[in-house]
Formats: sequence, C-alpha cells, structure tokens
Amino acid sequence: MRIGIYPGSFDPLTNGHLDIIERARRICDHLLVAVARNSAKKSLFSIDERLEMIERCCLCERNGIEIVTFEGLLAEYCKKRSVNFIVRGLRAIVDFEYEYAIALMNKKLAPDIETVFMMSKGEFSFISSNIVKEVASYGGDVSTLVPQFVQQKLRERFSAVVV
Ligand code: COA
Repeated sequence: MRIGIYPGSFDPLTNGHLDIIERARRICDHLLVAVARNSAKKSLFSIDERLEMIERCCLCERNGIEIVTFEGLLAEYCKKRSVNFIVRGLRAIVDFEYEYAIALMNKKLAPDIETVFMMSKGEFSFISSNIVKEVASYGGDVSTLVPQFVQQKLRERFSAVVV
C-alpha cells in the first residue's frame, strides 16, 4: 500500500491546497493530510478549526484521506506512520529553493521516503494562506480562493475582530 502525506499549516485551507490534495490522492492508496502543530507562524485558526475545515471540504472518509496532526520533525512522523512519500506543492520558482532544501533534509533524516512535487494549477499559483487572510481581513472577496466553508469561517473571524 502506497501511503502519501501532505503536510502544512493550512491556516486556512485554500483552493490551492485542495487541488494538491485531490491530485495527491490519485497517486497513493492512502493520503494523510497532516497539520503541523509546531509551526513557528502565528496562526489565525486553532488546530481544531483547521482540522474541521479540511474534514468538511475533503469528505475525507469517503475519499481515503486521513487528517492528522504532528509535532516535531515531519520525517520522524513519516517513519512512525510508514509513509512512502511526502507531497509538496510548487507554486512558482520562488518556492523551489526552500522546498529543495527541506526535501534534501528530509531525505537525510529518512532516506527511504521520497518527496514528490506537484506544480500548482496556474490559477492557484499566487495564493497563499497569508494573502487570503489579508484580503479577507479587509472584507475583500476570497470566494474564488477558498472553499465556501472556509470563506464563512474567515467572515466570522474578521467580523468578530472588527465589532
Ligand atoms: N496552494 C496554495 N497555497 C499554498 C500551496 C498551494 N498548493 N502550497 C503552499 N501554500 C502556501 C501555504 O498556505 C503557506 O502560506 P503562508 O505562508 O501564507 O501561511 C505557504 O504557501 C508556505 O507553505 P508551506 O511551505 O507548506 O508551509 P507551511 O507552514 O504550510 O508548512 C511544514 C510547512 C509544516 C510542512 C514544515 O515546516 C514542516 O515539515 N515542519 C515540521 C518540522 C520539520 O520537519 N521541518 C523540516 C526539516 S528541516
């Protein structure tokens, strides 16, 4: 059985992430979507909120997707879960250098685990969670950037901040 993992902070999940999840699912038997607990980034949404977004938007059980969280090194978690490959999305050339370094480091830590890169769809190549949060915080339209459930959560979060 080929087990893949798609790690990230997903704060929040975007249509770009969903595109990678759908395509990654097709190249493995079981896909773990893994929310990092120890990201250095200050998050807008709690881990539980991010897990709920992924659950609601991916219909996970039906699609052979398992949502997990991990803490510490990704490579160690992958070994524990017998993961065969790590999936990463490449949006543009600027992602490459960073991803290359991480992939080499992960290979050093876990030589049997491959990193597979998927090119983001052109229409999603400029999206990042930060851009989505910034636009949403000013009341801008993010309906083409995130799933509807995430859009609703962003609206609730930012209207709560403003009021
Ligand atoms: N579509 C849209 N946005 C995407 C995307 C895609 N296909 N792929 C990445 N992004 C966005 C993310 O939303 C994120 O946006 P943000 O910076 O505005 O929040 C940004 O691109 C960077 O994404 P990514 O590189 O995946 O960072 P991340 O914080 O989401 O996740 C981890 C990074 C958690 C996977 C990584 O830090 C990790 O493995 N940490 C554990 C410790 C470890 O083992 N480190 C590696 C060894 S050194």
